[in-house]
Amino acid sequence: MERPRITIFDTTLRDGEQSPGCSMNVQEKLRLAQQLDRLGVDVIEAGFPIASDGDFEAVQSIAASLRRPIIAGLARACTGDVDRAWQALQGAARPRIHVFLATSDIHLKYKLRITREKCLEQARDAVRHAKSLCPDVEFSPEDATRTDVAFLCQVVEAAIAAGATTVNIPDTVGYSMPEEYGNLIRTLREKVAGIDKVTISTHCHNDLGLAVANSLAGVQAGARQVECAINGIGERAGNASLEEIVMAMRVRPDRYPYETAIAGEHLYPSSQMLAEITRVPVQPNKAIIGRNAFAHEAGIHQDGMLKNPLTYEIMTPQSVGVPDSRLVLGKHSGRHALALRCEQLGHQFERRELDEIYRRFVVLADRIKKVQDSHLLELIQDVASGNVSSDVTGSKGKKFPPAAATLQFPRAVSAAAGANASDSHPAQVSGSAGQASVSIPFTDHHSEQEDYLWGV
Ligand code: KIV
Ligand code: ZN
Repeated sequence: MERPRITIFDTTLRDGEQSPGCSMNVQEKLRLAQQLDRLGVDVIEAGFPIASDGDFEAVQSIAASLRRPIIAGLARACTGDVDRAWQALQGAARPRIHVFLATSDIHLKYKLRITREKCLEQARDAVRHAKSLCPDVEFSPEDATRTDVAFLCQVVEAAIAAGATTVNIPDTVGYSMPEEYGNLIRTLREKVAGIDKVTISTHCHNDLGLAVANSLAGVQAGARQVECAINGIGERAGNASLEEIVMAMRVRPDRYPYETAIAGEHLYPSSQMLAEITRVPVQPNKAIIGRNAFAHEAGIHQDGMLKNPLTYEIMTPQSVGVPDSRLVLGKHSGRHALALRCEQLGHQFERRELDEIYRRFVVLADRIKKVQDSHLLELIQDVASGNVSSDVTGSKGKKFPPAAATLQFPRAVSAAAGANASDSHPAQVSGSAGQASVSIPFTDHHSEQEDYLWGV
């Protein structure tokens, strides 16, 4: 039976960028947007054009350079915001205006100081105006989960009648519980006229650590778009983590029988690129892409892993793009291996750039024998900033630490049938453990920089 397709709406560049320490400049946003395109997200929320000239420019340049994904620009429910968003989206092949307006009594009374009637009218007018400019309009009743349900139904219905094609139900303050959030989506589906003609979306914050659980509950209740961010970044405790949502559906299709267009092998490179650009490290035990997500320290676990990785791993590192550290980079490595590792670390190069990286890499490899990911990232940064230091100063200080020890585990080759065979280990042991082996990190020598780099 065909599985329903879930639209992945990435808000790393908008809600994610709003989180402390995560701001990015135009070039950085463009680079990350190109990676999100490779990752296969369906919608990129590129920014909030009225917020600043930088945000406007970022949305404009992303809209002009990416053709496949939908590019969304955020706007408050007022003409000036909507016009500015539309202006920034002019070059987009597939533009979307995302209009939002708070609907909870708390927000209406203390923040907006407007009545429910005024809120309803403002939402309707703003969506109507957005629709007169752009066929693809999303509406979000901010703080939906703390909004009176009857009033929420009224606003959502008005937004649909005014032309919204997606209605997003934000758990803005991360207050909801999974069952409650799922029930809210069900209620909207039952009560709102016209809702069957639009896409229902989730947008869950992580204040109680439930953003992913709430999003999945929303999907089970009929939502078909999920708003999420790489590494789960976002306001306060963050948004639902993209990698966790996607892999929950892949590893447990028995519970979540849904498809996404995400290329799993680009999850880790995307996470690395974001951490590198923002300099905000990923917590080591972060699910899916944290440094420890595939590391096994306890003796009993190592013993199990040596016998069969199915004992302690529910998905393969390769299925999420964690580099196979068997591929040792040394002076005999070729350009192809170097380019592949760079790609796994979130860097794609033109031929001439790669030539320069390769030239420096050979010099370095000659001196330190085994080039680790952290060395390579420093070298890439040096080349990008026009610095010559990776050629000559590498052996000084902490810059190029000694190579780490690794422990070899036999790696099961997934025997799961079907499209997701490479994404997870088979649910039950099927006697298919293969002979491929992979190095698992087995060291606690981490420099500060390496702290957020897996596999060292
Ligand atoms: O959390 C929120 O309510 C938002 C809206 C702008 C969608 O980010
Ligand atoms: Zn949000």
